Order: sequence, then C-alpha cells, then structure tokens
Amino acid sequence: MKVLITGATNGMGKGVARALATHPNVELVLLGRSQPLLAQTSDELARLSTPARISTIRCDLSRLREVREAISEFRSRHTTLDAIFINAGIGYAPRHDVTEDRLDAHFQVNYLSQFMLTLNLLDLLEGSQHGGRVVFNTPSFGELKFDDLQLEKEWNYELALGQGMAAKRLFFTRLHELYERRAPRVSCFGFEIPKTVWTNQINLIPFAMRAAATVMKAFGQFISIDACGQLMAPLFLEGQAESAERSGHLITHANGMLCPHPKPPTVLDAAQRERLWKVSLDLCADEATTRAAGRLTRP
Ligand SMILES: NC(=O)c1ccc[n+]([C@@H]2O[C@H](COP(=O)([O-])OP(=O)(O)OC[C@H]3O[C@@H](n4cnc5c(N)ncnc54)[C@H](OP(=O)(O)O)[C@@H]3O)[C@@H](O)[C@H]2O)c1
Repeated sequence: MKVLITGATNGMGKGVARALATHPNVELVLLGRSQPLLAQTSDELARLSTPARISTIRCDLSRLREVREAISEFRSRHTTLDAIFINAGIGYAPRHDVTEDRLDAHFQVNYLSQFMLTLNLLDLLEGSQHGGRVVFNTPSFGELKFDDLQLEKEWNYELALGQGMAAKRLFFTRLHELYERRAPRVSCFGFEIPKTVWTNQINLIPFAMRAAATVMKAFGQFISIDACGQLMAPLFLEGQAESAERSGHLITHANGMLCPHPKPPTVLDAAQRERLWKVSLDLCADEATTRAAGRLTRP
C-alpha cells in the first residue's frame, strides 16, 4: 500500500505518516517544501518502519513549476500509488502573500497546487489493487468568492483559509461525481478532525492566540498529532468497499468511529463545482493537467 502525503513534515500529515509507518505493508512518499525537514522526518519514520519504505519528494506548493517537477519525479520513481493525503496547508498568516504565479498563497498551496498534483496521479490510483483513494483534509467551514478568488478586494487569513477548504470540498465532490460512473473507481472524500490538533501552527500564531490555545489545551480542547494519526489511519488502510462507501462524503470521527459528518459538506451546487474545475484548469495552464481532466470528463 503506497501512500503519498503532502505536508508530511509537520502537524497532521506527520501524525498520519507516523501512524501508517508502523504498518508492515505501507510504503510512504513524503512531499514537503524543506529538504532538511524531509530528511529529518524520513529518518524519524524509518525508525518506526524500514528505510526502504520511506521516500521523499521536495516541492514547494506555492510554485506551480515545482508541482510539475514533483509530478514528473513521482512518475519517474513510482509506477504504483494507492492513496494520496491532500493535507499540506498554510493556516495562520500575518499578511496577504501572493505567489510567483500571482495567486493568493492560501488558494494555491492549500488547493490549486494539490488539484494539479491529484489530477496528474489519478491514473496511478485507478490501477491500485487496494482501491485507489484521495483523502482531503478539509473542515466544513469556509466559502468561495468567485468574484474575488485571489482575495484582492478583501483579505484576512480566516477568509483565505476558508476559501481553500471550500475549494477542496468542491473538488472532492466533483471528482466523486466523475468517478461514480467510471471503472476503475477512485474514492474521493474529505475528513474533518473533530478536535483541534496541536500542530506546528502553535509555533506560528501570534502570542495572544498561543496563550489562549494553551489555556484551551488545559481544558482538553486539543489532541496530539499522534492521536490524530491514529484516528485517520483506517481511512488509508481499510478495504476498497469501505472506502467506496465514504466517497463523496465529508467524514469525521464521532462516538468512537469514523462516520459521515452529521452536517452535509457545503459544496454549493453543480454549476459552482463545474465553474471551479474550469477556473482551476485555466489557472494551472498546464497541458498534462488539462489532458488528465479531459480524460475524466469525456462522455
Ligand atoms: N490543526 C488543526 O486542528 C486542523 C484542523 C483542521 C484542518 N487543518 C488543516 O490541516 C492541514 C495541516 O495543518 P496543520 O495544523 O497540521 O499545520 P502544520 O503543522 O503547520 O503543517 C502544515 C504542513 O503543510 C506544509 N506546507 C505548508 N506550506 C507548504 C508549501 N508551500 N509547500 C509544501 N508544503 C507546505 C508544512 O511544511 P513545513 O513543515 O515545511 O512547514 C507542514 O508540513 C492544513 O490544511 C490545515 O488547514 C488543521
């Protein structure tokens, strides 16, 4: 079982990697932007697993050119893939960052680059013997502003974060719809962690927020990255039938089990999903990505 994890060098991605590394049949490919952090995480995981089952790909998701390179690198080194965890993301940010591709950094890192990555690896997931799957780390909050996708008129980090989350929910729902009538099928679903996870974000947020978080931690409002990894690991390890059942849903953990979220995900309507799909392809402006999308949408 080969799992590609984006944002595996910290936080929830690292928690899931640590939980999966202890399983004898899991091979992990860690995608991250920092070579030293990738080397450190890989060494850490190799102690739980075996070095041969851990590999890394360096890619800064704020650069579409690096995503293209990462896709080529992955495809040159791997001929199979069973699951992707779409997890990497910017959370708190003190200011509006615009990337070299002239996009809002949250929109690009949290969504668009991973849209491109996913589309270009779907054919490998379709060949999975375990039932290919894409698991999106996406809470149920946030909405898209189609009239200001790059948040040029109004920006704050919560708006930016919410927009990336909404885009991911629209994307997994669209992918699910496209695969519903295709074989082999790839399961595509979101996961909302029911509690806040004590991640590297704590080291990035301003002092006042950190102080409030520390008080909340004392009242049990947080879980560790390892507890989060243990909750999420079955989503990657369970069989094809269980995974197919989850496809199209936002999953959470309640009453000791993984289950569909009680509130359906805000995925807007089919026209919005179609619109985001087209806008995303235009923004990627990448032949291989357009071809991969065309393969799915052709009747
Ligand atoms: N913490 C929570 O309670 C919570 C709840 C729901 C959803 N989430 C979502 O979970 C995801 C992970 O967040 P987290 O809380 O685990 O935060 P985190 O500890 O800050 O981890 C974020 C991960 O994303 C990577 N990343 C950030 N920018 C990147 C870029 N440009 N290119 C490649 N990788 C990049 C980071 O790399 P570095 O290690 O190099 O920094 C890190 O590995 C985010 O999408 C977040 O919104 C978090």
